[in-house]
Amino acid sequence: MLLARGEGMTLTKLAIFAALAVTFSAFCAGLAAPREAAAAGKALVVYFSMPETDKPDGMTREEDNSAVVIDGKVLGNTQYVAQLIAERTGADIFRIEPEKPYPTDHETLVGLARAEKDDGARPAIKGALPDLSAYDTVFVGYPNWWADMPMILYTFFDRADLSGKRVIPFVTHGGSGFSRTVETIAELEPGAKVERGVSVPRSDAQECGPEVTAWLREAGFAK
Ligand SMILES: Cc1cc2nc3c(=O)[nH]c(=O)nc-3n(C[C@H](O)[C@H](O)[C@H](O)COP(=O)(O)O)c2cc1C
Repeated sequence: MLLARGEGMTLTKLAIFAALAVTFSAFCAGLAAPREAAAAGKALVVYFSMPETDKPDGMTREEDNSAVVIDGKVLGNTQYVAQLIAERTGADIFRIEPEKPYPTDHETLVGLARAEKDDGARPAIKGALPDLSAYDTVFVGYPNWWADMPMILYTFFDRADLSGKRVIPFVTHGGSGFSRTVETIAELEPGAKVERGVSVPRSDAQECGPEVTAWLREAGFAK
């Protein structure tokens, strides 16, 4: 096809414009993809929870305080929140269990937890920890015990290397919220990016699903 000189120039400009448009949209797509990946990444939920019974019927007040009943099954308050997070984000889940089981009798448990805190104890965790290097984000859940984390969480942070990861504590409690635990975790894991996650009062634990979902959306983990 023969083109007049002016027409050739116009086609060349069009071709350059089209190439620029394609490059620009590819650039934008490239920007969007890593941002989504950074928000979600590969996530793990690590939690400790101590329901004081495994029987759904005839609970004492203390047992009821420490547990929810979902589909007829007893779960610890923190255990339930951990399961919701894992379900709604597709994260893996790991339960911290003590080598020596804690007593389920409330007063005995409260006394033992106090003694562990006063002694700066590091109760042993049963079994091996998961390979944390595989994860970008680690949610860490625990009940508030004596305005602190249960001491077995200190054992976890002593053993875990969370450098470079997004670490998101979440807590269930009887009124104290996180206390100073988020700050403590940031001190224990100076290389991690520690954020404040959801704080669920035990009185709301049974019904906390919508709140957990809303918080996850805000934190960039909506499914
Ligand atoms: C040993 C012990 C100490 C506790 N200390 C506190 C506390 O200082 N502040 C608070 O708000 N709740 C406290 N609680 C209440 C728990 O944080 C609350 O019941 C929590 O939801 C239990 O979670 P779990 O069922 O996952 O173990 C304590 C409970 C126990 C057993």
